[in-house]
Amino acid sequence: MNRYEARLLRQGNPWLYALLRGSRLTGRLTRVPRLGWLVTDPVLARRVLNDHGGFTMAGEGGVGHMWSQLFGAEMAGLFDGTEHTRVRTAARDLFTEQAAAELVERAQGEHYRRLAERLREGETVDVAAATRVLAGRLVADLLGLRLGPDAAPYENLFSLGERLAALALGTTSSTDLPEEKIAAASRIAAELTRAVPEAYAAAGQDTILGRCRELGFSLDLTRGLATLLAVAGTETGASGTSRTVALLHDTGQLGTLLARPDLMPNAVREGLRVATPAPLIGRHVAKDVTVEGRLIREGERVIVLTHRANNDAGAFDVTREYVAENRQLWFGAGRHLCLGAAVARTQVTRMLQALTETGRPYRVVSRRAARGVLVPTYHSLKVSLDAPN
Ligand code: HEM
Repeated sequence: MNRYEARLLRQGNPWLYALLRGSRLTGRLTRVPRLGWLVTDPVLARRVLNDHGGFTMAGEGGVGHMWSQLFGAEMAGLFDGTEHTRVRTAARDLFTEQAAAELVERAQGEHYRRLAERLREGETVDVAAATRVLAGRLVADLLGLRLGPDAAPYENLFSLGERLAALALGTTSSTDLPEEKIAAASRIAAELTRAVPEAYAAAGQDTILGRCRELGFSLDLTRGLATLLAVAGTETGASGTSRTVALLHDTGQLGTLLARPDLMPNAVREGLRVATPAPLIGRHVAKDVTVEGRLIREGERVIVLTHRANNDAGAFDVTREYVAENRQLWFGAGRHLCLGAAVARTQVTRMLQALTETGRPYRVVSRRAARGVLVPTYHSLKVSLDAPN
């Protein structure tokens, strides 16, 4: 692991860092006291994530279990079976490559252009701060919330999502939330979705809220889904973007990308692989399953350590071809494969294009890790362009 990434993980989420270090001593599939089964191998990871009968997101150990404690049984029903398929099918066309490109341009395009302009004018730009506002803008657009031109409300949206996600810290040994966490989460969710009722009533068919209304979802369930989206799409996207920017710089491979812009998709893929902003995925064991000759019992939990599984392929390398064993495990696998994958890739691409459009290298002037976060990321990552020759 490169030293900046190591520091980011250690300072942001020390428990995760310790788990990743410790996992170097475990095998592909290891039973760890108090945690459950740890999976570190990409092929096994995909096997678990694709076995929907054996492993579920909805029971203890899965993220769906936490959401159902916050938003009730109706919400729990959305994480599995036919209801899950119904929601995904209804939302699919909002998340295609084309829709993602349009969404990112509409919600963020002007801001990438402004960022590139500031760099050209010789200013130093804080990429990490920009990703927070950009993520807030994206979610606001998806949800049909009108928050005006200023950055502050979007930053607030981001920090609410971040605070909500941070409540999940310490849930790795149990996803049963204590009452005070449920109360705190409900308060944050209420603030996050303050404008949802109005938007729900008026939103068009081309928005998530409009689709929820068409599907006959109650306002409460819609608020739950809106909150889920605000959390799923913000921290991960911001982390993946700023860490890819730093990785390109720190590994000395920015020059390669500048000389060969056709490597852009590789740079984005490698950044997301190495950073793996969703570093682990939890599942509840729904029935006895034998994996690699080991019996995993109903009621146990599995932690798929995606960060480890993705990083075993090697260090960040923009010339690395697609790794077949990993596919795109940083976005998960199976029925819950990240719905926002195209959006996430587009955002990283647009940021890298904004930073490299002059053909001149950028340099990281200063950086600071975010602390006490679920998803390790930069709190600030200041970059400026090298002077023209
Ligand atoms: C680099 C950025 C991102 C990463 C690494 C990432 C990663 C993931 C992963 C690993 C999952 C699967 C979780 C599991 O199986 O338990 C997931 C699910 C999901 N993601 Fe993302 N995500 C990112 C960005 C986004 C964005 C930008 C959005 C929305 C605009 C989004 C929306 C979702 C949704 C709705 C799900 C749930 C899908 C389902 O359960 O069917 N994600 N994401």
